[in-house]
Amino acid sequence: MVLKIDLNNVFHPLLQDEGLKEQDISSFKEKFNKAFLNLREKKEKQELGFFHLPYFPEEEIVEIEKTAQEIKEKFSYFVVLGIGGSALGPLAVHTALNNLRYNELPDELRGGPKFYVEDNIDPERMASLFKVIEPEKTVFNVITKSGATAETLSQLLIVTELLKKKVGQRFTDHLIFTTDPEKGNLRALARELGVKTFAIPSNVGGRFSELTPVGLLPAAVTGIKIRELLAGAREMAEKCERENLWENPAALAAAIHVLLLERGKNMAVMMPYADSLKYMADWYAQLLGESIGKKLNCRGEEVYVGQTPVKALGVTDQHSQVQLYTEGPFDKLLLFLEVENYRNTVVIPPDFPQYAELKFLGGHTLNELIIAEKKATEFALLKARRPNYTIIFPEVNPYTVGEFLYFLEAKIAFMGEYLDINAFDQPGVEEGKKATYALLGREGLEEKRQEVLRVQKDPKYILS
Ligand code: PA5
Repeated sequence: MVLKIDLNNVFHPLLQDEGLKEQDISSFKEKFNKAFLNLREKKEKQELGFFHLPYFPEEEIVEIEKTAQEIKEKFSYFVVLGIGGSALGPLAVHTALNNLRYNELPDELRGGPKFYVEDNIDPERMASLFKVIEPEKTVFNVITKSGATAETLSQLLIVTELLKKKVGQRFTDHLIFTTDPEKGNLRALARELGVKTFAIPSNVGGRFSELTPVGLLPAAVTGIKIRELLAGAREMAEKCERENLWENPAALAAAIHVLLLERGKNMAVMMPYADSLKYMADWYAQLLGESIGKKLNCRGEEVYVGQTPVKALGVTDQHSQVQLYTEGPFDKLLLFLEVENYRNTVVIPPDFPQYAELKFLGGHTLNELIIAEKKATEFALLKARRPNYTIIFPEVNPYTVGEFLYFLEAKIAFMGEYLDINAFDQPGVEEGKKATYALLGREGLEEKRQEVLRVQKDPKYILS
C-alpha cells in the first residue's frame, strides 16, 4: 500500500506543445546527475538534515512517545504555538490522520486531548482560544526553531502570564518547548526555567522539520502512530536515492516542474480531493513558495525565480477555480491528490426517480462520486491542454503521509539544485521582520524605524 505518482497527463499527446516529451527528460539527465551528486554530498556532510529524519534515533522516538502518553493522561487540551514551518506540518498531519471533527468528538472517541494549532497573532483568535480551553488543563507546545520569532514569543508571554495566574509557580509544567538544540532565546529560557524541551536538529530548517519533534510530538499526543509516519518516509527516502532519473520520484517530479516553469508554467496548484489532505496544500505552499522563490542564484546573480503555489480543494473548488484553470492563461501545472480508499463509505440512497438529475445518483456512493469528479476534472484539463499529475494515496494513513511529506521535501531539494538556488534559506522575509521589530521599538533598530516611518501614506490614495 504505497503512494503512486501518475505522470501520464504531463506527457500525453493531447497536451500538444503545453506538455513534455520523453526526450525532454532524457536531455535533463546531465542536470539530474549533477544535482544528485551535489545533494548526496550535502547529505553526507550533514548539511541537509531533513534527509536523515526518516532514520530518527530510537531513544528520541521513545522519549516523544513517553511524553505524549503523560500528556494524554494528565491534560485535556494541547495547544501548538508556532508559525510557518513550526505550525503548518502539525496542522496538516493532524487533519490528515485524525477524525475531521476531532475536537468535537466525545473524550472516549478521541486519540488524545483536544488539539489546537495557533499560528497567527490575530487578537480575536487568541481571545477566542481562551474561551474554549481551560489553562490549568492545557499543555502549550511552543515551537520555534530560531527561538526568536516575535509572533510565537508574544504568544509565549501571553500564556505564561495566564498560567501564572491560574497555577502559580507550576506554570512550567504546562509548557513544552521545541527549538534548536543549542541556540536561541527559547533554549536559554528552557534552561533557566527548567521547561521540558525537545530539539530540532540544527541542520533542519523550519519548513523541512515536520518529521522532527515539531511534528512528531503533536502527532503522538493525538494518537497518531509516529513510527508508521517515519517508516513511510524511509520507504520514500530509499526511492529518492535511485540513480536513474526515470525511477527517482522526487528527481523526476522536480525535473517536470522546472522544465514546465521554463515554459511559462509559473504557478503550481495543489488540489487534494480529500478534506483530510486540505492542509497539506497549505504546508506545501510554504515549502514551494519559500524554498523556490528567490532573487539570487548560488552564484549571486539576479534570477527572480519561483513557482507561485496555489491551494485548491476538490471538489469544492471545481465550482470556483476550475473555470480559470481550464480556460485561463496557460501558466499552471496542477498536482492532484487522489484517494483510492476513503476511510468511510457513504451510500447515496435512491429516491425520486422521476427526476433524471436525482435518478442517476441513487445507489452510488459519495466515494464513487468524488473519484469520478476528480477523473472528470483531470480529463477536462487534459483536453484543454493543461498539464497535471496525480499523487494517489491507496488510503490516507500514517505510512502514506510519511511517504508524501518526504517526497515533496526531496522534490523541493532537487528543484533547488536544478535551478541553482538555495532552497533552504528565506532572505526575503527578513526585511518585513526587521521593520516589525523596529516599529515596536526593539533596541538597535532605531535607524530602521526611521526608514519605515519616512515612507509616508498620501491620503489622496485612501478612499472612504
Ligand atoms: O521555513 C522556515 O524556516 C520559516 O518559515 C519558519 O518556519 C518560520 O519563520 C518560523 O520560524 P521559527 O520556527 O524559527 O519560529
